[in-house]
Amino acid sequence: MKKKFNLAIIGLGQIGGYLYNELRLKKKEIEKKTGKKIEIVAISAKNKNKKRKFKINNKIFYSNPLKIFKEKKIDILFESIGLSDGMSKKIVELALKKKISVITPNKALIAKHGDKLSELAEKNKVNLEFEASVAGGIPILRTIKEGLATNKINKIYGILNGTTNYILSEMENTNETFDKVLKKAQRLGYAEPGNPKLDLNGFDAFAKIKILSALAFNTKISKSKCLMEGIENIQLEDIRIASQLGLRVKLLGISEIIKGHLFETVHPCLVGKNTYIGNVNGVMNAVITEGKPVGESILQGEGAGPGPTSSSLLSDLLSILRGNTKYPFGISSTKRKNIKSFNNNNYTNSLYLRFVVKDKQGVLSLITNRLSKYKISVKRIIQTPDKKNKKATIVIITHKTSEINARNCLSLFSKNKDIFKFPTLIRLYN
Ligand SMILES: NC(=O)c1ccc[n+]([C@@H]2O[C@H](COP(=O)([O-])OP(=O)(O)OC[C@H]3O[C@@H](n4cnc5c(N)ncnc54)[C@H](OP(=O)(O)O)[C@@H]3O)[C@@H](O)[C@H]2O)c1
Repeated sequence: MKKKFNLAIIGLGQIGGYLYNELRLKKKEIEKKTGKKIEIVAISAKNKNKKRKFKINNKIFYSNPLKIFKEKKIDILFESIGLSDGMSKKIVELALKKKISVITPNKALIAKHGDKLSELAEKNKVNLEFEASVAGGIPILRTIKEGLATNKINKIYGILNGTTNYILSEMENTNETFDKVLKKAQRLGYAEPGNPKLDLNGFDAFAKIKILSALAFNTKISKSKCLMEGIENIQLEDIRIASQLGLRVKLLGISEIIKGHLFETVHPCLVGKNTYIGNVNGVMNAVITEGKPVGESILQGEGAGPGPTSSSLLSDLLSILRGNTKYPFGISSTKRKNIKSFNNNNYTNSLYLRFVVKDKQGVLSLITNRLSKYKISVKRIIQTPDKKNKKATIVIITHKTSEINARNCLSLFSKNKDIFKFPTLIRLYN
């Protein structure tokens, strides 16, 4: 096996810049632990003159990363531009075709093109590693691929987005509104300053769930439409009421095999304050796997940020330097099967429904009658009048019902003049 490895880092933003510095600081330690020499021979970002947190070596800087392939001999390439397509995809494909191993934290790229890219890596007998693409510093992918390798996993779920978990925890702790806490998260660097939409609407967590499902169940990445909801509609009032009920709102990503079908979802859930997942707060992530014969395993840690992400990127590097040429998704691409998707309409949960209604007689019975027409039985009702504004808040916790049934039932409420706002729905975690 080779003794010396040439490295290239493409993208010197939050992650790439930090990684570049870490690689220089830890060069000796990595060489000691692997018995291999490493050298960063090329780095690339868009703008050469941009002021960066860490000093870079301009002699090896490329504004056009494609030029690196012509001018340098590379063994391992870090892609940290972060696009699902465009230059990120182009570089990764080109590298794999040229028998260069790739390490990336780019979940958008892997969730969209992971199947094709892993085939390409396998064909060229090089590594495609993406530990950092899911849950930052938590070594969940390697745990599934190696530590839990002989287990039959039937469910994997957890808190996969630190931004939304921070916002929900902070709203509960400070009694501040979603907008206020979002601004604070942006100031602290927990949410993207420009466009935090992909974190808030559940898309970021969903890309991670897709990658986790493929690994946990040895399947191709699913292309079906998922049940995806973010936290944008969660109001302080819901968090307060949930708290009074001994519950907490968490954005959960869930993937499981139900009757041989794959069910993947991301949506806010009400979980008990005394449960494990209910106590994963702030920017923390946690991933829970249920497998046989191992039972339940939990990994918790920091899910984002340059430090934790770089920790995973370096663990991928060490794995390659130690000679672990592995299938990117744990087993050969030819053995990974397509799996049929579970029909989202049949997903069942108890529901939390919050109505804001006109404070007059008959409105509550109108709601409960409609629910009962759809065979949605009520477990608990809390009614809070607001006499001054002639309004009332009605919160109903239901017994389990299916998605389709709930949707059909609730759609009727949008047309009623005594119901001021389409009811807020939060599912209770089963
Ligand atoms: N940030 C986190 O906490 C975190 C956590 C886990 C995973 N990730 C993943 O890590 C990846 C990178 O995220 P990031 O936060 O580091 O992004 P970022 O700060 O926006 O950095 C992107 C980098 O790509 C460079 N770039 C853009 N287009 C380029 C091109 N055509 N050629 C060469 N370089 C180009 C940019 O150059 P300039 O600097 O010159 O503009 C910049 O250095 C993403 O896939 C993200 O999902 C991030």
